[in-house]
Amino acid sequence: MLAATLTINMVGGVLLRKAANQNVQQVTDLSASLSNEITDASFEKIHGGLIDAARQMGGRLFLVDRDAKVIFDTFDERCGTLLPYGEVQTVLSGESDADYGYHAHRLDGAADGAQRDGEWEGCFASAVLDGSGRTVAVVAALISIQDTIDTVYQLRNNIGLVFLAALAVVLLLSALILSGLITRPINALSAGIDRMAQGDYGTMVHVPGHGEMANLAAAFNEMSEKVHRLDESRSQFVSNASHELKTPLATIKILVETMLYQEGADEAFYKELLQDIDSEIDRLSAVVSDLLILAKADSRKLTIRRERIDFESVVRKSVDRLMPLADKKEIAVNLDITDPCVMEADSAKLMQVCYNIISNAIKYTPREGRIDVKLRRTGRDAVLEVSDTGVGIAEADLPHVFDRFYRADRSRAREEEGTGTGLGLSIVRQIVRLHAGTVTVRSKPGEGSTFTVQLPVL
Ligand SMILES: Nc1ncnc2c1ncn2[C@@H]1O[C@H](COP(=O)(O)OP(=O)(O)O)[C@@H](O)[C@H]1O
Ligand SMILES: [Mg+2]
Repeated sequence: MLAATLTINMVGGVLLRKAANQNVQQVTDLSASLSNEITDASFEKIHGGLIDAARQMGGRLFLVDRDAKVIFDTFDERCGTLLPYGEVQTVLSGESDADYGYHAHRLDGAADGAQRDGEWEGCFASAVLDGSGRTVAVVAALISIQDTIDTVYQLRNNIGLVFLAALAVVLLLSALILSGLITRPINALSAGIDRMAQGDYGTMVHVPGHGEMANLAAAFNEMSEKVHRLDESRSQFVSNASHELKTPLATIKILVETMLYQEGADEAFYKELLQDIDSEIDRLSAVVSDLLILAKADSRKLTIRRERIDFESVVRKSVDRLMPLADKKEIAVNLDITDPCVMEADSAKLMQVCYNIISNAIKYTPREGRIDVKLRRTGRDAVLEVSDTGVGIAEADLPHVFDRFYRADRSRAREEEGTGTGLGLSIVRQIVRLHAGTVTVRSKPGEGSTFTVQLPVL
């Protein structure tokens, strides 16, 4: 809008200057011709000439003397009065031979009915010189420039309109372009969401740039990747779980079939097979109950019943329950409890934690090994450390031992007590997390492993 106003003002300026140049020329021509004849021409002749010139110029002409008093007035009204225009004064003072200016008022007492109040007129003054170059009189022309002003105003209104129209078009176009810029990424995103809804996890959308839309697309891609990974681990979990259940079932089936088709075997034979079936069923129910715990944890239904407990007694009880197993392998278990650790926790679940970790230590430690169970307090935490002199865990396996169904060495795990599910440590991690604690492991293959559980105390 500013640009349009400036343009119109410039156009107006040019129009006015053009009109003024013409008028100045005419008035100076007139004054020049008067300079030659003012001394000898008759007043009538001069008056007549002025009237002609005024008609030609479409204005009112005055001839004033050196005191700015009107000698001639083509309207014949102001003779003898002073002509109060600055341009006349400029010329009379000798500052300049000719001058012009614009005024928004009309001459007092003017009887020109065509002129309205506040009408714009230009005043053009030019000196009439005598033979020796002295200013003897001034020709002044009052010419209405209202037409020019009107044209400029009209132009201003019209150009304003044109400009507004152009502005509207520009705005419309940029809105269209911008909406394209906005809708394209939105379309890309919603297409991505559709693909994901149809099960294409891990689908990516591409939105170039650095704006909010690009951020949104990046967030979507990140989420999509996570969903993809989750989906993969879920199907992995399902297949692992089915496998874990299927193996004992297949074994049981073989055992039962053997019993069915083995005719005339003695009682001891059947008993042995039945014992095998029994341990396979134990294995099955161990897997199922572990799976149930994890399923509960996944659906956030695994809750802990917090009550004031003494962690020390939980650790003691777990060790007591596992002593027969350790004794069987002649493994020495040293219990070293330095501080009492009172906490708000679920003792049954913490028992499961201790039981899983210590039973692993026994399971993965060869005969006549040694296990140290240490409990102490550091700051606001109870720290349980279970170290063994067992087979240890390879560095590549360390980050995974808490994963579901992860077994570092499958062949050996099978040989050991038949009940390993590969779920024990992932249950440990779930329970410890529910208690706002942490569980970590350090190990050196061939030397042993240390599992550390840290839980907040009261
Ligand atoms: N004390 C330990 N020493 C060596 N390896 C261990 C120990 N505890 C756990 N592991 C390894 O971590 C794996 C996962 O343990 P866990 O989840 O309890 O499963 P599981 O005991 O049923 O095999 C085990 O298979 C074993 O390879
Ligand atoms: Mg275990």
